[in-house]
Amino acid sequence: MKVFSRIVDVQNELFAYRKQAKTVGLVPTMGALHEGHASLVRRSVAENDVTVVSVFVNPTQFNDKNDLRNYPRTLDADCALLSECGADIVFAPSVEEMYPQPDNRYFEFPPVSTVMEGAHRPGHFNGVCQVVSRLFYIVRPDNAYFGEKDWQQIAVIKAMVSSLGLRVNIVECPIIRDEDGLARSSRNTLLSPDERLIAPEIYKVLSESISYSATHTVADTHDFVVEKINSVDGLEVEYFSIVDGDTLQDVLSWDESEHVVGCITVYCGKTPIRLIDHIKYK
Ligand code: PAF
Repeated sequence: MKVFSRIVDVQNELFAYRKQAKTVGLVPTMGALHEGHASLVRRSVAENDVTVVSVFVNPTQFNDKNDLRNYPRTLDADCALLSECGADIVFAPSVEEMYPQPDNRYFEFPPVSTVMEGAHRPGHFNGVCQVVSRLFYIVRPDNAYFGEKDWQQIAVIKAMVSSLGLRVNIVECPIIRDEDGLARSSRNTLLSPDERLIAPEIYKVLSESISYSATHTVADTHDFVVEKINSVDGLEVEYFSIVDGDTLQDVLSWDESEHVVGCITVYCGKTPIRLIDHIKYK
């Protein structure tokens, strides 16, 4: 496995593969890698001739300076895990390398980018699109791998790919959970032991809401989830939206869509740590 920090070095390395018509898989990450990332990398390794993993904490997608400052950075451990997973190339650039000048492009893909995370984290998806489009231009992957944990992010990236006419296949990979149900996230390492104990309640309540939803309306199911999670000391729901899984627009009845997903963001603990998760109703 080779580790590069300069764009030109990654491109030179990939040039050799491309001359032999090898397929390239890209797994974009912000590091602090866990089993969720490892599953994406293993899948890319299985499906492509060469796998590139980018490790870059992208400042333009953080709308909160403290969140950016506190975001875990663990490049050595990340490289050890990536090598074990069979990655070929790690691209870990500096901020100056990725953004030699400020990126003045503005991405907005309504309706998918403006609701939920788009409404609560202004500028977040603009930053995600800035960095992911740059990575796509640098690596020119055939396939790019993203985790379904960030359900809305996948919808926004697909809209961006279609709008920019990029030739990359977006591969959606299932969420990976700890044994107690907590969705794997780099932010979990920031939870104190007490916070880690209550965080699995989020998925527990989401799971319970599936049977509840069979005999209740969308509005009742929404309130059931929000009230149950808020009743746990240390958890506070920022939003819970029951939406069409593709358009991400609210549904008012279960019959309105064939593909209904509940997307939630919860603040956990005193810091607090922002955790996201989702549940598929249909
Ligand atoms: O999902 C993430 O970790 C980030 O949003 C991504 C896609 C790597 C862009 O910085």
